Amino acid sequence: MKKILHIISSPRGEASLSIKLGNAIIEKIKAEHPGSTLKEINLVTQPFPHLEEAHLASFFTPAENWTSENIAAIKYSEDAIQEILDTDIIVIGAPLYNFSIPSNLKAWIDHIVRKGITFKYDENGAEGLIKGKKVYIALSSGGIYSDGPMQPFDYAEPYLKFILTFIGLTDISVFRAEGSSIPGMQDAALEKGISSIHLN
Ligand SMILES: Cc1cc2nc3c(=O)[nH]c(=O)nc-3n(C[C@H](O)[C@H](O)[C@H](O)COP(=O)(O)O)c2cc1C
Repeated sequence: MKKILHIISSPRGEASLSIKLGNAIIEKIKAEHPGSTLKEINLVTQPFPHLEEAHLASFFTPAENWTSENIAAIKYSEDAIQEILDTDIIVIGAPLYNFSIPSNLKAWIDHIVRKGITFKYDENGAEGLIKGKKVYIALSSGGIYSDGPMQPFDYAEPYLKFILTFIGLTDISVFRAEGSSIPGMQDAALEKGISSIHLN
């Protein structure tokens, strides 16, 4: 039995390929681990705010000195980090937007990457502090980026892998529903993505 956290960043609901691919990953996890539980975080219907001065002030104030204003501002970050700590597996659905991730997913990332909480620096450099979680990324794109001439222009996969590894989430698998903008490829994009799913 596993606890699964599904991070949704596409606004397209039932039409979304990244959500469908993420759900297919979750079905496979549930089949392998009967009784697994699922929590969905929808960054479209419940967006995280862009970082403002109040968030930064609370990030850099020791918890024992937090004012009620600091506590209100840091709640997004505290809750998002706790949701990660409470889960075994994180499934992140991400459409490729302008060759990168959607800004709602970046806003969530800005709340979970916190010095002293999810990473630290010491004499050996940076160390990620979240340990022992599995991450699956369900990436959708109109074009093809797994190989071919556009491969260098997918900034979503390398960025997600780097930033998640930076906070300790090192065990990452990426599956793609790609090529949906290519005439005749829409159904095949999702089918190929789903059939590529293998859990490890
Ligand atoms: C605002 C926007 C930007 C997009 N940018 C790209 C892009 O840079 N490269 C690409 O291949 N597809 C791009 N697409 C196509 C989407 O990645 C593709 O339709 C994907 O299936 C969307 O994910 P979803 O089905 O989960 O919503 C873009 C779509 C939108 C709406």
